[in-house]
Amino acid sequence: MTYTESDIVRTVEQLAGQDVAKLSRQELDGIDQFHAGGPQAVDRLIPGLRLGPGMTALDVGSGFGGPARQIARTTGCGVVGIDITAAYVAAAAELTAAADLSDRVRFVHTPVADLAEGGFDAALTVHVQMNVADKRAFYTDIAAHLRPGARLAVFEVCQGRRSTPPQLPLPWSLDGSDSFLTTGDALCRTIEAAGFDLVEWSDDTAWVGEWFTALGKRLATAPPAVALPALLADGPTRMLNYAIALSEGAVTVHRGTFTK
Ligand SMILES: C[S@@+](CC[C@H](N)C(=O)[O-])C[C@H]1O[C@@H](n2cnc3c(N)ncnc32)[C@H](O)[C@@H]1O
Repeated sequence: MTYTESDIVRTVEQLAGQDVAKLSRQELDGIDQFHAGGPQAVDRLIPGLRLGPGMTALDVGSGFGGPARQIARTTGCGVVGIDITAAYVAAAAELTAAADLSDRVRFVHTPVADLAEGGFDAALTVHVQMNVADKRAFYTDIAAHLRPGARLAVFEVCQGRRSTPPQLPLPWSLDGSDSFLTTGDALCRTIEAAGFDLVEWSDDTAWVGEWFTALGKRLATAPPAVALPALLADGPTRMLNYAIALSEGAVTVHRGTFTK
């Protein structure tokens, strides 16, 4: 099991030396987005989601809730985030209360198949499906919770062209037992087979590589009091292995937009 961190908000406060409510938006951006590309990656997804006030998006695998809060702040919509890791759901709710967004953003500890609500206006998965063995069932279950015409945006890690697997541990898997990588082409076809029409499919690997380079420089020159690697078990090694796997072609990152 990979996502074992508990009491994430207390860890942030210990490392930062202050209450999360006192951290700036910029400081939180480096903590609550558990994926490559940070908030800039979520910015790339937002236009395709076609969200606005009065609409509600479903964030599947919402982690600490950074993408959900960013989408709510940017578009004015509501967001329901769901995740199978209870401690992450608790952290997401606490960070959302500190950001004063609890009236529009909430989190539920559940797999998507068991979510009681439906009819969402859009959905997203950001660095989630690499933990999911049955991807067709996963995206079929997401489709079942959307209204017709709803958008789906994905920003996902895929198997690269290099046959050697990436070095473990990785941000999404400590021992490999919960890593299920598929190629970008296969993932796109699987999402279509789950009931979605393709709008856009893009290989964002080079862009993510540049983001990692900029992150490395920032951490080396002006390290913040607390950054995501410090929150995760073996975090720096996992992030480094991900960056190396990207640069060596062992993994890619694909971004896609679909319509139900
Ligand atoms: C790498 S984190 C990404 C979190 C968030 N999407 C983000 O980008 O900040 C992966 C998240 O997916 C969740 N997850 C993994 N498999 C899942 C599943 N089948 N259903 C819902 N959540 C899942 C994990 O608990 C974890 O919070």
